[in-house]
Amino acid sequence: TSLKIAVIPGDGIGTEVMPYGIRCLQAVAQAFNISLNFTAFNFASCEYYQKHGDMLPMDWKETLVKFDAIYFGAVGMPDVVPDNVSLWGSLLKFRREFDQYINLRPCRLMPGVRCPLIDRKPGDIDFWIVRENTEGEYSNIGGKIFEGTDRETVIQETVMTKTGVDRVLRYAFSLAQHRPRKHLTSATKSNGISITMPYWDERVHDISLSYPEVRVDKYHIDILTAHFVQKPDIFDVVVGSNLFGDILSDLGPACTGTIGIAPSGNINPDRTFPSLFEPVHGSAPDIAGKGIANPVGMIWAGQMMLQHFGYFDAASLMLQAIEAVLARGDTEVLTIDMGGKGTTQSLGEAIEKEIQAF
Ligand code: NAI
Ligand code: MG
Repeated sequence: TSLKIAVIPGDGIGTEVMPYGIRCLQAVAQAFNISLNFTAFNFASCEYYQKHGDMLPMDWKETLVKFDAIYFGAVGMPDVVPDNVSLWGSLLKFRREFDQYINLRPCRLMPGVRCPLIDRKPGDIDFWIVRENTEGEYSNIGGKIFEGTDRETVIQETVMTKTGVDRVLRYAFSLAQHRPRKHLTSATKSNGISITMPYWDERVHDISLSYPEVRVDKYHIDILTAHFVQKPDIFDVVVGSNLFGDILSDLGPACTGTIGIAPSGNINPDRTFPSLFEPVHGSAPDIAGKGIANPVGMIWAGQMMLQHFGYFDAASLMLQAIEAVLARGDTEVLTIDMGGKGTTQSLGEAIEKEIQAF
């Protein structure tokens, strides 16, 4: 059987790193005899918007639902299309309509990456962030009343459904269960947010009963952000609501060096809909067109995609190849954000060759 992958490069450096993501995936697919079938689409880009007045064609959902996964670059050309239009018109539609209720990001200090935290070395930081990706604080329910008067008031509701909370917690518990340390940290704020967050804690407690081997900690989000910076080694799997997970999942990768290497999965674990794999970074208009973008985030996102489909050996080789090239620390190969003098091409091809050498 062949995995059908929809390729959406998007804008800016998304289009520059995508070819190396595909080349590395093809190299590993060849080594492990996996059949990958790529189909490229030009929509979900601002160029498409300029031509058609919309980010997506009318039938995007019928088109994409036929694929096993979406491999996504980055979207955004803020000088041409407002960011809320480009993002809500593309990526956020995919996440909601394909019920990608898990946003999964590894947080791992790689060899050869200068860590902004003091005295940390590879191996010290290695955890996963699991963010609820479809409800919670990002509800769109609320409004403005008494507009233009002294009583002007805005209200926005947080929605937590039992189904929505339980499914993300189960995913996080099960991930923790499969890791050596079997440790789950839950982000909360049940001292200040007096209804939804105590409910979140209650669901964590209930679900923990089904995972007796998993050790559970909970921290209020404020001190949790401090711990991310001061003692990241204590974490194994961290789970949070949509807002808390969003904040943590930018902070985490930032604590491990450049965001140019960080990947993310928007996952529909039920496999009813395709999941989407992308680098954490955006389209980086400030460096777009120069050929100097770090391709590792894109390549590592491809690695997460193989992992998602159960190709564990291939995925593990791909990660080893990334680590080996970074660890070598060749400044001619590494990109500028990693302190090197290299290009997207030099780093992308080095990783491709490393995979082929297997
Ligand atoms: P950004 O991630 O594009 O760039 C932030 C900074 O990091 C820039 O200085 C950039 O040069 C650098 N950077 C990012 N990726 C890099 C890489 N691979 N190699 C080397 N340096 C890298 O975030 P920013 O500037 O806030 O947003 C730019 C555009 O991207 C906006 O239109 C925004 O809406 C969009 N965006 C899209 C995302 C997505 O498609 N998932 C995520 C974040 C932003
Ligand atoms: Mg974010």
